[in-house]
Amino acid sequence: MALHDRWVQERKHEHYYKLAKKLNYRSRASFKLMQIDDRFRIFREGDSVVDLGASPGGWLQVAKERVGSEGKVVGVDLRYIRPLEGVTTIIGDITEDSTMRELLEVVGGKVDVVLSDMAPNIGGSYSTDHARSVDLCMYAVAVCDRILKKGGKLVVKVFMGDMMDSLLKELEPRFSSVKVHSPAASRDTSSEMYIISKGFLASRNVKPKEMDEEEKRPEFTSKGGNI
Ligand SMILES: C[S@@+](CC[C@H](N)C(=O)[O-])C[C@H]1O[C@@H](n2cnc3c(N)ncnc32)[C@H](O)[C@@H]1O
Repeated sequence: MALHDRWVQERKHEHYYKLAKKLNYRSRASFKLMQIDDRFRIFREGDSVVDLGASPGGWLQVAKERVGSEGKVVGVDLRYIRPLEGVTTIIGDITEDSTMRELLEVVGGKVDVVLSDMAPNIGGSYSTDHARSVDLCMYAVAVCDRILKKGGKLVVKVFMGDMMDSLLKELEPRFSSVKVHSPAASRDTSSEMYIISKGFLASRNVKPKEMDEEEKRPEFTSKGGNI
């Protein structure tokens, strides 16, 4: 990257970092979700929302603000999430059956919106990071199949790469609209994109109570990857 472009990137990064501190948001990522919501109208007052990969809680803050006091927000992460008023949190790995079951129990019904800002630990080769990111997106899709209401929305982060097409092929039959978007608060150099899917068709919905049946459990195991 040219020196000037890098300088612009760093200023932008610093701008959102300072703004998050000033406005008491837990992450710069909060602004990405605000920008996505301002453009795509994800949240309505009173909505119920599940946020996957929610720590430290920047998206949870934005979701809670936008759904209001009547709304319900549940966050899941491998890492601890500092308590947030009006928000329920679950510590666990969404690729594990036990976490999926706990989520279904806590939610106790269907939700209007599923969010996923989940990211794998970066460190492998780019193609490995991309494949892991797509895999996490597939778990977010599995959550939708269990608990997203008909007409509901999914916002999911993905690292771009050659498996994007296969991910879009999973999303397109499930939703009436699927759009790939990069919010201004994302770094221009980043390979991350957000897929905004609206109008869940619910045609493949798996009833949550089926989770209790022993034979359904392998569907969620990370080793099998058969979701
Ligand atoms: C970019 S951060 C999320 C930031 C968050 N949206 C915010 O605004 O504060 C990505 C998170 O995904 C979580 N994550 C990655 N894999 C996960 C998994 N399998 N289950 C649950 N959380 C996961 C990580 O622990 C990390 O906290």
